Amino acid sequence: MTPFMVVLGLALVFEGGQCVEREVFVAHGSVAVLPCVDESSALSFPTAVYWSRMTGDVLKTVWRREKSGLEFRPVRDQPRANCPVPNFGKSDYSLHIAGTTIEDGGKYVCEVVGKTKMVKVVVLRVIRASFSPAVVVEGSRTEPMCDVNPTTPFVRVTWKRNGHFTSRTSLSNVSQRDAGIWTCQVTNNIVVVEATADLQVKGISNPQDDSSVSYAAVGSSVSLPCMFTDGLISNTVTWNRTGSPRPLSASFDWSLGSATIQRVEDGDEGMYTCSGRMKGLKREGITVQRRMELVVTRVLSSSASSGNGPVTLTCHLSNSDQITSYEWLRVTYGPNDTQTVTPVQKTKSSRIQVTEKHAGEWMCRYYGEQGVLGNVTYEFQIMGALKNENNKSPGNKIAMVMGLGFLFLVVFLVLFQMYRNYRRKKMILLYPAMETIVHQTTTEREQRQRSKAKMTEPCVGDPKSVCV
Ligand SMILES: *[C@@H]1O[C@H](CO)[C@@H](O)[C@H](O)[C@H]1NC(C)=O
Ligand SMILES: *[C@@H]1O[C@H](CO)[C@@H](O)[C@H](O)[C@H]1NC(C)=O
Ligand SMILES: *[C@@H]1O[C@H](CO)[C@@H](O)[C@H](O)[C@H]1NC(C)=O
Ligand SMILES: *[C@@H]1O[C@H](CO)[C@@H](O)[C@H](O)[C@H]1NC(C)=O
Repeated sequence: MTPFMVVLGLALVFEGGQCVEREVFVAHGSVAVLPCVDESSALSFPTAVYWSRMTGDVLKTVWRREKSGLEFRPVRDQPRANCPVPNFGKSDYSLHIAGTTIEDGGKYVCEVVGKTKMVKVVVLRVIRASFSPAVVVEGSRTEPMCDVNPTTPFVRVTWKRNGHFTSRTSLSNVSQRDAGIWTCQVTNNIVVVEATADLQVKGISNPQDDSSVSYAAVGSSVSLPCMFTDGLISNTVTWNRTGSPRPLSASFDWSLGSATIQRVEDGDEGMYTCSGRMKGLKREGITVQRRMELVVTRVLSSSASSGNGPVTLTCHLSNSDQITSYEWLRVTYGPNDTQTVTPVQKTKSSRIQVTEKHAGEWMCRYYGEQGVLGNVTYEFQIMGALKNENNKSPGNKIAMVMGLGFLFLVVFLVLFQMYRNYRRKKMILLYPAMETIVHQTTTEREQRQRSKAKMTEPCVGDPKSVCV
């Protein structure tokens, strides 16, 4: 823990009998000034000055200066406590303690001897802010503590975080948002003293919580941050997609600080989780993880079927919950490839209508509560190229499938008709052939019968005649 200490107020005065008792509040680590001033200037220089501290019932010298001018101080505290001698001329014998620690708190006595004798008693109360334990892993518990030594019931202790008062007196589930400087403020009627403590939270320092969203245009590369603090057990970092059956993109690549998708595609959107294990009390460490969302953006165009009509460009985001407005800009390129963007329209709607004369590059810039969140560009081309682009939409796919189906139907009908014609022709040819066959067989039979008759008939009359 590195405490940064601030002193705001110093002294509270009690009038008590002959000697004046003062109370000094000081933050641990800063310079304490224990006042001992001879307001009446009754003591003349040179004088003897004795500063001692009450330890139990015993007074122990902290610093002393004899009439001779010799200075004494305990060896142990040598550099920290002293009375700046030049002040003596102004009758100021205050003790300065540098780098005050909580153990320096207690009752101090200043005794100045000149023509008369002055005794002052100062109670030094040291305030220290701390966390117990001082370094924690995300999700564990720690407690802020504000010590005042010596303690006193006459103070009010409050805590501030980022300049705002907070009532949290114990942190049961520490997050990265809790990390940083905590201020303990000690107040009594007169003084306000602040002491600070730096709470260090081990885990994932960026993003700080599960609400981060990254935007990326289709085709661009995107980096999802996941930055671990020290204390990470090496080789325990993993990345997952959450709530999506799709695996990590093929171009997904991670190193310690972030993961990169080289070429974002439709479908890469969704929740991603990075996790790693931090060294802790347990041997296997404590797992910390962060969820983040990737929103994929693209410009869609749709034209009226009549062709030459206006075209609607839509700035499409896979999740537009955090988008408050859209801005459309023209992108032009000068010599040297210098890009110039010209705002055209800023709307709550994600659409713009453009016509052919606006061909060229368009940019959609989207805004959230905090300002610009990102942009996506689109090359608006005329006619042919545009139609090609349109073919990618599912509506046109259906049209294409239906067209092809119709074509097949026509071809089928034509082929079927041809087949039928062929069949009919074949039938016509088939039957005449059968007729001839029947005809032939009958004539043959007749001939045979006739010749048989000729044979059986006796050759009457002419014996020389030959019967065939
Ligand atoms: C601790 O806080 C985180 C983030 O705020 C939350 O997801 C988690 O459920 C909390 N754990 C407990 C035990 O409350
Ligand atoms: C990531 O996925 C792997 C395997 O699918 C699983 O073992 C692991 O627990 C997951 N990690 C997180 C942080 O979801
Ligand atoms: C850009 O143009 C300027 C003159 O307008 C020229 O001096 C410069 O060299 C050019 N830069 C490049 C990278 O071509
Ligand atoms: C568009 O976005 C890119 C990356 O997010 C950024 O570098 C660039 O400056 C933006 N351009 C404009 C004109 O806003």
